[in-house]
Amino acid sequence: MSAIELSKPQWSSQKVFILAAVGSAVGLGNIWKFPYITGENGGGAFVLVYLLCVALIGLPVLMSEVGLGRLGRANPPQAMANLAADFRASPLWSLLGLNGVLAGLLILSFYTVIAGWAMDYFVESAKGSFRGISGEAVGQYFSGFLANPWALLFWHTVMVGLTLAIVAKGVKGGLEKAVNFMMPLLFLILLVLVGWSAAQNSFGDSLRFLFAPDFSKLTWEAVLIAMGHAFFTLSIGMGAMMVYGSYLPEGYSITRASLWIVFADTAVALLAGVVIFTVVFGNGLEPGAGPGLLFQTLPVAFGQMSGGWFWGTLFFFLVVLAALSSAISLIEPAVSWLEQNWRMSRIRATLLLGALVWLAGIGTVLSFNAWKDVHLLPGRTFFDSLDFVTANIMLPLGGMLMAVFMAWVIPAAVRRKTFDLGLVGDALFIRDLRYIAPVGVLIVFASNLVESSLHRWIAVGVALALYALYAYNRSRYNLSIRPGE
Ligand code: TRP
Repeated sequence: MSAIELSKPQWSSQKVFILAAVGSAVGLGNIWKFPYITGENGGGAFVLVYLLCVALIGLPVLMSEVGLGRLGRANPPQAMANLAADFRASPLWSLLGLNGVLAGLLILSFYTVIAGWAMDYFVESAKGSFRGISGEAVGQYFSGFLANPWALLFWHTVMVGLTLAIVAKGVKGGLEKAVNFMMPLLFLILLVLVGWSAAQNSFGDSLRFLFAPDFSKLTWEAVLIAMGHAFFTLSIGMGAMMVYGSYLPEGYSITRASLWIVFADTAVALLAGVVIFTVVFGNGLEPGAGPGLLFQTLPVAFGQMSGGWFWGTLFFFLVVLAALSSAISLIEPAVSWLEQNWRMSRIRATLLLGALVWLAGIGTVLSFNAWKDVHLLPGRTFFDSLDFVTANIMLPLGGMLMAVFMAWVIPAAVRRKTFDLGLVGDALFIRDLRYIAPVGVLIVFASNLVESSLHRWIAVGVALALYALYAYNRSRYNLSIRPGE
């Protein structure tokens, strides 16, 4: 049996698990990142690809990841090692867990910087600085803020500190309670904002931009970004959901929980998008403004609406909370790995990782001022490079391998018992895991590898041929050890 099986905390109810998982999924990805990458990539067609990726790749990978956590019963590298040992696969599968541990830390290092922006906006909003502010004035405030590395560093430090304080105490304490009322409240404020938007002249432009696809604006790179974002926004591909799944008692429905997570996460992103683009088109702002989009638009909306001071302050407070409940899930896999496999105390592990994350975050802080023109990857700042490598490469790679593991390594009987999907549901699930999710990721990866279109199709062909070879071998192997599969 498994080498390390630890007695672990368990969720006290299915609802608590769903809340924590939604807390992880809903965060800056929905409110900050989704609108700005949608603006940069032309709107509707990009949104459509994103929604397809969420439904066809995100949902099954999310279910697989939670399922692997429950079956593997440990931190991601150890859970994969346990499962590989149980089901006679290569011990190298634990590298999948390590990829996740690293991706989580890298993401967290820029995540806390952006969460710090929201914190600053919470304070400014509370001070009343955004009363009646124009698009131009808020743009000036924002560029002034970004130009000051010390301000960014200060808030980054605060956010890292808050994350560590929560994680050091264990996830089950206060945050669980905070998430409990915060998620519904965030939703409520978004609805208030959507109500305000619907009364604006630019509401129709916003809906058209988001939901009327113009495929001439779609590039292969945009497809990669949309797919990467499906992983990022659902918190999948790096083991966060695996850790949460490892606390899941038998008998709770993974499928039902996953559907809730996907629904809530997608709804928040789309609502935020509708509001932000209403402000963009109503004030002659630029949809492709980049990472500052949220911060250059929403204060204008709050500044104009009645009760805007109250709603704005509350909104940025909730964005900070939503970011915190996501941030803890980014570091939790690494913490539990150090705790369980390296016998470090929780406090020590948290402090060590926090120091690393804080240091790496300085690179992101400087990306918006002193290192604006310093490129790590061609044409990308330190921040852009980290974001690109994690969201568009490490997460899809990790998620694809989880789907492959669930599809080709876990025996059918175990899978059926874990997900309890019924005959038709299971047939769809396994086909998606075998032929849609990994193939989709491979096609998008391969087509981004090369520039010219002929070579692009050769790359796609080679990738698919290799996958077919693996699948063929694996299914023969399964047949030879498990008749009846
Ligand atoms: N999903 C979160 C968001 O949208 C970010 C996040 C939390 C995350 N945990 C993760 C992303 C794990 C990838 C992997 O803001």
